[in-house]
Amino acid sequence: MNSLADSDHRYLWHPFTQMKDWMAEEPIIIASAEGTVLRDTAGREYLDANSSIWTNLHGHRHPKITAAIKEQLDLIAHSSFLGLSNVPAIELAKQLCKLTKLDRVFYSDDGSTAVEVAIKMALQYWQHRGQRQRTKFVAFADAYHGDTLGAVSVGGIDLFHATFKPLLFDVIRVSRVSDLPSGDDVAAVVIEPLIQGAAGMRLWPRGMLRELRQWCDRSGALLIADEVMTGFGRTGTMFACEQEGVCPDLMAVAKGLTGGYLPLAATLTTAEIFNAFLGDYSEFKTFFHGHSYTGNQLGCAAALANLQVFGEEKTLEKLAVLSAQLSAGLQQCGSGADVRCLGMIGAVEIGPYPLEARMGIKVCTEMRKRGVLTRPIGNVIVLMPPYCVTREQLERMLQVLYDSIHTVCG
Ligand SMILES: Cc1ncc(COP(=O)(O)O)c(C=O)c1O
Repeated sequence: MNSLADSDHRYLWHPFTQMKDWMAEEPIIIASAEGTVLRDTAGREYLDANSSIWTNLHGHRHPKITAAIKEQLDLIAHSSFLGLSNVPAIELAKQLCKLTKLDRVFYSDDGSTAVEVAIKMALQYWQHRGQRQRTKFVAFADAYHGDTLGAVSVGGIDLFHATFKPLLFDVIRVSRVSDLPSGDDVAAVVIEPLIQGAAGMRLWPRGMLRELRQWCDRSGALLIADEVMTGFGRTGTMFACEQEGVCPDLMAVAKGLTGGYLPLAATLTTAEIFNAFLGDYSEFKTFFHGHSYTGNQLGCAAALANLQVFGEEKTLEKLAVLSAQLSAGLQQCGSGADVRCLGMIGAVEIGPYPLEARMGIKVCTEMRKRGVLTRPIGNVIVLMPPYCVTREQLERMLQVLYDSIHTVCG
């Protein structure tokens, strides 16, 4: 093993990784990339079939996004957002409000923190409105909203979340709209709109999101849409909520916000919620929350360039064609298996196999040997390429998926 690999094994702790297994294998160490292709330090090339954990949109080293970050770097990398503002953060907020039809943008760093902010805003909003009994949160079974403790509290994946139970707040856990509670103590409902990602790319029935919105309108509870995975074209429209004509009260975005270049997140909300926090200083209605890198200029510049690319390259129109190819290809290669597809999200569920059999991991290892990188979610293999993927690259991903499933599962 080379010395970089040795140092990785000696000094690093990777996320969501059994480090015993990790240290028994030679790691892939990425050195560079272009478009859909990742290149490692040994010069081997791989197709990035999960868009670098669902973040990358227009491909790696897109000239527009790269140039925007470099230009911003020549001005300033970061200054505090506490008591100061900055140019790209202002411009980005304006564009995000236009896109989402929401009114205010609160920046943070990643998907988890964007959800955390939404939860805290919702709770504090009801206190300012004098409805202090609204302290409960409704969340869905198998939901995933991130790894900070508020986000874990609303998460519903036992494998990831059960260990931390002593640290979590109680939520009302439901599986479907008909399970929703009655009463006036719910502050907000949190949902991954249209599709639950980390649960294994599980689609909600069509119309469910709209029904949920209607329930919120009737009960007075706020609707938090976690568009961290689904936002920025992933489901075929700019935001998943659009497909059901739903406008949430709070929306969390991250991952694709910068096109997958830099960690930046945002929680968007309505004027009504924002206005409830206004008051004399001595009333202490301030939203006491913030991070050192809030409104980071480099991230905001990347996000602005990302949105510009959507316009210039007519990305959403392009996605319709690609998504049809992904869906048709998956149907073919997943014959017999459970196949799910929405926009540029594709998933094949193999098995059923017990988790301990590591069948998903084995399929992805086979894919890696054939030059395609993705990560399994249990028995679910995800194909979620960047939007710049070519027809040929997508065909190769599908063929490799097909061959690898057959090698491992017979
Ligand atoms: C729906 C959803 N919300 C939140 C998160 C957490 O985002 P992050 O990993 O950037 O904290 C994820 C991550 O996969 C996600 O899929």
